[in-house]
Amino acid sequence: DWTLENFIENTISEISKIDGNVLCGISGGVDSTVAAVLIQKAIGDKLKCVFVDNGLLRLDEEMEVNNMFENNFGMNFTMINAKDRFLSRLKGVTDPEQKRKIVGEEFVKVFTEFAEKNGPFKWLAQGTLYPDVIESGVSKGPAAVIKTHHNVGGLPSWLHLQVLEPLRFLYKDEVRRVGKILGVPDKLLYRHPFPGPGLAVRVMGELTPEKLQIAKQASKIVENELVVSGWYDKVWQAYAAVGDDRAVGVVGDERKYGHVVLVRVVDSIDAMTADWTRLPSEILERISNRITNEVEDVAWVSYVISSKPPATIEPQ
Ligand code: XMP
Repeated sequence: DWTLENFIENTISEISKIDGNVLCGISGGVDSTVAAVLIQKAIGDKLKCVFVDNGLLRLDEEMEVNNMFENNFGMNFTMINAKDRFLSRLKGVTDPEQKRKIVGEEFVKVFTEFAEKNGPFKWLAQGTLYPDVIESGVSKGPAAVIKTHHNVGGLPSWLHLQVLEPLRFLYKDEVRRVGKILGVPDKLLYRHPFPGPGLAVRVMGELTPEKLQIAKQASKIVENELVVSGWYDKVWQAYAAVGDDRAVGVVGDERKYGHVVLVRVVDSIDAMTADWTRLPSEILERISNRITNEVEDVAWVSYVISSKPPATIEPQ
């Protein structure tokens, strides 16, 4: 009889049999957090969690994640500030797959350094879900790769780390329910998913500090407006991306050439397919007004009305 309670019990009992220390990369999202809590139930302090601040997270997220772990789970937890490393490697890079590749590589480097200093580790835990496994083409061969998901594989073999993926047969909604049973706070469980490469794939073209800041502030506005109107929990994801081209706006009686912000709100069950959310126009209007008024150098706000397929949820 397959129930989530049985899944938890069996997984904890399986994991408690393993030998050696486990290193877990915390992304700040639901998946890696639930994976870590599950593993900690099985092996306690033999699990060490590391959170890499890559500078590509949502506004103030690094602080929130750090506080969350310090105050809640009593885990062996370390935050590494690697902002400069990531941003300097991404300088001048415009190709989306190249950006994903760089972020993935840098993650692996930071992990590897941490593992060497704090090891020995025998396992690397990851919050990989079933859709990631399928989309990465693991079961279908390289031709089936849709986008490079950095969080499946990619580790240097000389580290001799084995991959522990306790959530690899679960969908997102199941992971949330597992987290709930294990006492993970709702605030984290019901936060929208966020891609591993972070804002690198939500800023089109080169990742400049200016565009990065716009993406953070505009996304915060989208998130806030959905929370206050009661829409946040009804949608799968809601954020603002920043285009690589510019549009003309008027400020007073002056023409100003500013950035284009793309508001993306989608409904989905498991991220395999998605439909754009038919938000009431009053909410769209508030979002648009707030972004152009409160965020520096934005001329246009556009709402994305492409579904998946043929589009993907993330712009890159
Ligand atoms: P796409 O853009 O492929 O995204 O429709 C599907 C879901 O996956 C998230 N996503 C990622 N998650 N690493 C992740 O952990 C990634 O590289 C990545 N790329 C996309 C995306 O936010 C959406 O929920």
